[in-house]
Amino acid sequence: MSKKYRFETLAIHEGFGDFTFNPVMPPIYVSTTYKQPEPGVFVGRYDYGRTANPTRDLLEKTLTALENGKFGLAFSSGCSAITTLLHLFGSGDRIILGHDLYAGTYRLFRSVFLKFNLEYKLVKFSNPENLAKEITDNTKMVFFETPTNPLLDIIDIEAVAQICKNRGVLVCVDNTFATPYLQNPLDLGADLVVHSSTKYLGGHSDVIGGAIITNDQEIFTKLQFLQNAIGAVPSPFDCFLLLRSLKTLSIRMERHSENARKIADFLVSHPKVKQVRYPGLPSHPGHSIAKKQMRDFGGMMSFEIDANLDQIKHFLAHLKLFFIAESLGGVESLIEVPALMTHAYLSPEERAAVGITDGLVRLSVGIESYLDLIEDLQNSLDKIS
Ligand SMILES: Cc1ncc(COP(=O)(O)O)c(C=O)c1O
Repeated sequence: MSKKYRFETLAIHEGFGDFTFNPVMPPIYVSTTYKQPEPGVFVGRYDYGRTANPTRDLLEKTLTALENGKFGLAFSSGCSAITTLLHLFGSGDRIILGHDLYAGTYRLFRSVFLKFNLEYKLVKFSNPENLAKEITDNTKMVFFETPTNPLLDIIDIEAVAQICKNRGVLVCVDNTFATPYLQNPLDLGADLVVHSSTKYLGGHSDVIGGAIITNDQEIFTKLQFLQNAIGAVPSPFDCFLLLRSLKTLSIRMERHSENARKIADFLVSHPKVKQVRYPGLPSHPGHSIAKKQMRDFGGMMSFEIDANLDQIKHFLAHLKLFFIAESLGGVESLIEVPALMTHAYLSPEERAAVGITDGLVRLSVGIESYLDLIEDLQNSLDKIS
């Protein structure tokens, strides 16, 4: 779009074009191949569906606009987006990872890319000074989430970008928890943004997807080659679902954030809750940075219950509205215990090093009535003896 519209408008109008019959929603182009008027001559840029697809193009265009970037690519999952990204690097290169990270991302480094001799180091850089001293000559990228998963730490994107600038180190932010509605890392100096679109971008727990957005033409060209060469692309139907979901992202994120704020306030005052990790709470150590770099604080939080694992299972068993499930970002509220679920892949020692205790519970607060959600939590917390 030539005029620079605001987020809510872009979310609805950017993923559009000229289509036969003037539909108000774009068609889903399922064709895997395209007729060539002459050998080697294509209509538009389309010859084969893995290389490019018109429905995927609309999704990539929309995600790029929402992240305020120049180039974007869609993938079949968040993990395949990160896998494709890691193919930018080679043997002996070193990547610095934020210490609190989605366990599947860590697994890629630990169990998949290690055999290609890609070095990695987990660093806690909620204090960015810890990062500066870890940058070596072979360090090629810093990769982190903010807010982090599952501890909801906040990392100062601008400060990290400042440290990496002029040192040949790319900065990549996994913006899955915040979404482009709440935070635009490219505007804060990051080189790359990745997403698991499976989460808030999809928003209805019914599509797996991923994305990478950048302002850098050279990196984009390399990634576009890898997207086609590796082939971890989303189906046209999944692209359509995501395009549809993005139209309501802003109002969903507002409601997620409002509900989460109310629930955090409730949990803080509950005697069985030891610590609430929600960046919207003024007591959160990263609150002022979150306020600086985020539009609101989102729907994710974690908290410690003063209970052992059996008591926690008892608490979970009494919940009626919070589904016990992995993943996050859907309209329905979810609850999970990282030590037993998303982070069970880590050894107890690795979890302890990160700060994931047995009593830690993570909520993905949905968009139901917050009053019902609070009642559900209250009832179940009361059942802990
Ligand atoms: C922050 C974050 N990044 C990446 C991923 C991986 O995404 P996907 O499950 O779509 O492969 C996840 C999945 O939970 C995630 O939470």
